[in-house]
Amino acid sequence: MKGFVPTPLPVVDLMVAKLFDKMPPTPEDTLLDPGCGRGAFIDGIIRWCDKNNQKIPRIAGVDSDPNHIVIACEKYSGYPSIQIRHADFLLQALGRKFEFIIANPPYVPITGLTKQEKREYRTRFHSATGRFDLYFLFFEQALHCLKKDGRLVFITPEKYLSVKSASQLRIILSEYSIDEIDLIHEQSFRNLVTYPAVTTITHRKLDGPTTIVFRDGNTKSVEMPKDGTSAFPSLYGKTEKKAGYCTLGEICLRVSCGVATGVDAVFVHKKNGIPRNLKKYSFPTITGRDLSLNSYVVQSDLEMITPYEANGKLIPESQLGALKEFLLIPENHCRLLKRTCTAKKPWYAFHENPPLNQILQRKILCKDITEKPFFRIDESGEIVPSHSVYYIIPKNPDHLEVLNDYLNSSEVRLWLESNCQRAANGFLRLQSTILKQVPVPFSILENGWLSGQKTSLLHGPEDSANIAVNG
Ligand SMILES: C[S@@+](CC[C@H](N)C(=O)[O-])C[C@H]1O[C@@H](n2cnc3c(N)ncnc32)[C@H](O)[C@@H]1O
Repeated sequence: MKGFVPTPLPVVDLMVAKLFDKMPPTPEDTLLDPGCGRGAFIDGIIRWCDKNNQKIPRIAGVDSDPNHIVIACEKYSGYPSIQIRHADFLLQALGRKFEFIIANPPYVPITGLTKQEKREYRTRFHSATGRFDLYFLFFEQALHCLKKDGRLVFITPEKYLSVKSASQLRIILSEYSIDEIDLIHEQSFRNLVTYPAVTTITHRKLDGPTTIVFRDGNTKSVEMPKDGTSAFPSLYGKTEKKAGYCTLGEICLRVSCGVATGVDAVFVHKKNGIPRNLKKYSFPTITGRDLSLNSYVVQSDLEMITPYEANGKLIPESQLGALKEFLLIPENHCRLLKRTCTAKKPWYAFHENPPLNQILQRKILCKDITEKPFFRIDESGEIVPSHSVYYIIPKNPDHLEVLNDYLNSSEVRLWLESNCQRAANGFLRLQSTILKQVPVPFSILENGWLSGQKTSLLHGPEDSANIAVNG
């Protein structure tokens, strides 16, 4: 059963209302529900038609799961205009087009697909690029099935608006009119789906802006980018590269996520819990939780045992010595072998090789998820940050303090609030792709950053309004 998450009734009714808004269906119209499951949307359409005294259109529900099909077939056996079909929507052609399409497609990340599925999808779908998700392909396939002037309403994670792997999907969508993106409440699926977005599309050449309905109820009209770049700057703010500015990525050696061991229970321990004979392999580490807005001190009582040499190379197994004995303790060994993220690596390697030769120097640290972004300097240069911390190393070490002061300025905070993806409860997700785009005025690198100095990172009245909304 791939990606079965039933749509809650209030969300179904909201989506059906959007589908038929100013476009009520006639009994001759055709409607497709791909991935229909047990018929949550079909029930919603019947409810809407009853309430609005309309006859139901001709509905086709398609699902690849035979168990759902049995339930749906039985449920709609008394409705001659509803057909339930057992088929793979992505691989079997339906042979016709529809006036209306509504779906909650399966959300299945690439890691949930078999090798053969990945290969097949990559050859069939333009949107199957990078670390694609199955719902990208449902979007693409459904758009092929949409009649001219037909309407489609999909609920998916909002991620497709910003992630790199969805850039091809965004290019495909740019050929249609994206009428509205309703960023519905985070808890709509309890905790099952993060950041749901209800997208309403009409099959006609894009002829106007898209209405964005934000989670706080505010709305905004935006021009969606047509070149596959992230839509987030259009949604949450707008930055132009101005003369006199570079980006943080351009002046840094690294703007990276901390070290992912793949199994912290084996490698990360309290300082006093690490046996003396393993001390030479361990480095102080820090998690996002240990960084505090109220303190400039960067410390924790945790250490990370690392089977890596100072140059970042994995220590050969034959030279692990006491560390090998520790890693072979049955509890540790079992945890190490259970990892799937390191399948093609030596059994004791981290999820990613840590570039210790670069990490082990003075650097700027920040939490990956935070209510208010702030930055702190690791003065010791000895900390190997964990994966819930980002680290920033300027190419010129002399820029460390000035950059840290600047990153802690209200200007940068407003920029991050306008450009970062949202995590739960309105917290910000500080990904490296976004951090690398933080505009940095050349002048501060030459003359230093005076606290209270004002720069103009955000332009135009629309941006200031947006900050008030999101700030
Ligand atoms: C998120 S559930 C939504 C179910 C139902 N529409 C609802 O809203 O409650 C996605 C559905 O897609 C179906 N599905 C997954 N892959 C499919 C495929 N390749 N072709 C057709 N259906 C598929 C699953 O079996 C599941 O029922």
